[in-house]
Amino acid sequence: MKQLHLFDIPLIADKWQVQNFSADNFGEQSARMSLEQKLIDIMIVSDDFSRQSVSYQLSKNDCLHRWLKYKEGFSADLVKKLLREFEIKAGDTVLDPFSGSGTTNLVCKMQGINSIGFDILPMSKIAIEAKQSVYEYDLKEINQIISEIDQLEMPENYNKRTPYINITDGAYPKNTEKEIAFFAEWNKNSNYSKSAKNLVMLCMLNSLEKVSYTAKDGQFLRWDYRSKKMRESSEYRAKNGKKPLVIRLDKGNLPTLKQVLLEELKSVFVDINSIQKYTRQEESELKFVEGNALYELPKYGDNILSGVITSPPYCNRYDYTRTYALELAYLEITDEKIKKLRQELLSCTVENKPKIEYIKENYEALGKKKDFDNILKIIEKNKTLAEVNHSLAERSINGDINNRGVLRMIDGYFTELTFIYAELFRLCKSGAKVAFVNDNVRYGGEVISVDFISTELAEQIGFKPVKVYSLKQQKGNSSQQMAKFGRVALRKSITVWEKP
Ligand SMILES: C[S@@+](CC[C@H](N)C(=O)[O-])C[C@H]1O[C@@H](n2cnc3c(N)ncnc32)[C@H](O)[C@@H]1O
Repeated sequence: MKQLHLFDIPLIADKWQVQNFSADNFGEQSARMSLEQKLIDIMIVSDDFSRQSVSYQLSKNDCLHRWLKYKEGFSADLVKKLLREFEIKAGDTVLDPFSGSGTTNLVCKMQGINSIGFDILPMSKIAIEAKQSVYEYDLKEINQIISEIDQLEMPENYNKRTPYINITDGAYPKNTEKEIAFFAEWNKNSNYSKSAKNLVMLCMLNSLEKVSYTAKDGQFLRWDYRSKKMRESSEYRAKNGKKPLVIRLDKGNLPTLKQVLLEELKSVFVDINSIQKYTRQEESELKFVEGNALYELPKYGDNILSGVITSPPYCNRYDYTRTYALELAYLEITDEKIKKLRQELLSCTVENKPKIEYIKENYEALGKKKDFDNILKIIEKNKTLAEVNHSLAERSINGDINNRGVLRMIDGYFTELTFIYAELFRLCKSGAKVAFVNDNVRYGGEVISVDFISTELAEQIGFKPVKVYSLKQQKGNSSQQMAKFGRVALRKSITVWEKP
């Protein structure tokens, strides 16, 4: 392992190298141990990449990148550093198969680098389209929209309500439910340009959480004590002799949609103005497809990419369709469609069912059954994965994992990622580099080194492992795991591979 500071040497070796993968030496860990020994030499504990740079924190105040408040995003700074390190130039093509708010794609666009992006969430398309039009907006038109919204008043007798799904029922004060519908209808029927209307839609999406009784908080939506859900739950607890809930969210006075929408539009206006005034538009193509990377990647030709910079969903049970329920409901995605969308996610929730049959059908339909078989063989041959799956099954029998969906999730996660890695290998030109930002995880006392296992799979596919940047700040464990199995710090890493 390369060390950064002389004085840190013993500390770093202890802190970032996993010493024990299976709490209380419960299960087999030899495959994980030998993989750790093998790859620790290419690990660099990095000063260049911080916890902030792999999260949305740095983008919060970043011109353009702040247009969609996407907490799962990484920073423009991280993408810039990696583009530099990979020596990617204007005219090259970079891919992000999990674009999210489009950080990779937009940084590329601003540097004249072509890019391709996929994501299954409809917000992604709206945000990326809005941002990539930054040089095309007519500032006079945006100004006119701001003035018109400022003058607009919802009629007293207006009684439409913004669409909702089960989990968002009662998410807004009654008047706000109507106000959202009113402004959405106004935007839909206005005569402004298509790109300006899409920009207003993005600002509406960004306003929803602020005007609601909810707050995005890690894996869940938290609810204000005044919301219908919380009121009903308090009544239920009181009736059944249970103590009132202690942790209550109080969002204070909620602003109106009009107030927040105006703020959003004004801040976007400032960004457009400064980008149009102070930067030069570089020639490049940004191609975004709203779709599942697992099914889209096999459709592309060989040797087209100079690099990949991405961050897949982490293997941490995080459900994007729940966190973004307000935004999805606003976009008229019904309960049924949300369930489908959840299944489209790279397996990262306990509800995900195996997709292997659909993947196989897709490869067959594309006349690529051989590729499918070869990739599957790599997965089946990997000893570390077999050990992880076996240990988790044993843990489950031992009562250490309370939801069998975890086993399915881990198995599906690595299976699906291997298909992604294999397709990236095919799409990359010789010399192209691939960077994946990801977190290691722990379930039932078993440490799963997503960074090293992924690197091993990538190597089996044909990539050369180059380095694994590990962040100085590591991740803790859930309180249940800590109580039962003690604490093991988990790496947050950026893995870098090269196509020879
Ligand atoms: C960690 S986020 C990426 C954030 C992104 N780097 C950014 O800066 O905004 C992972 C993304 O993967 C998307 N995703 C999940 N499963 C997918 C799939 N099967 N195909 C394409 N995108 C998917 C999620 O919707 C989410 O936006």
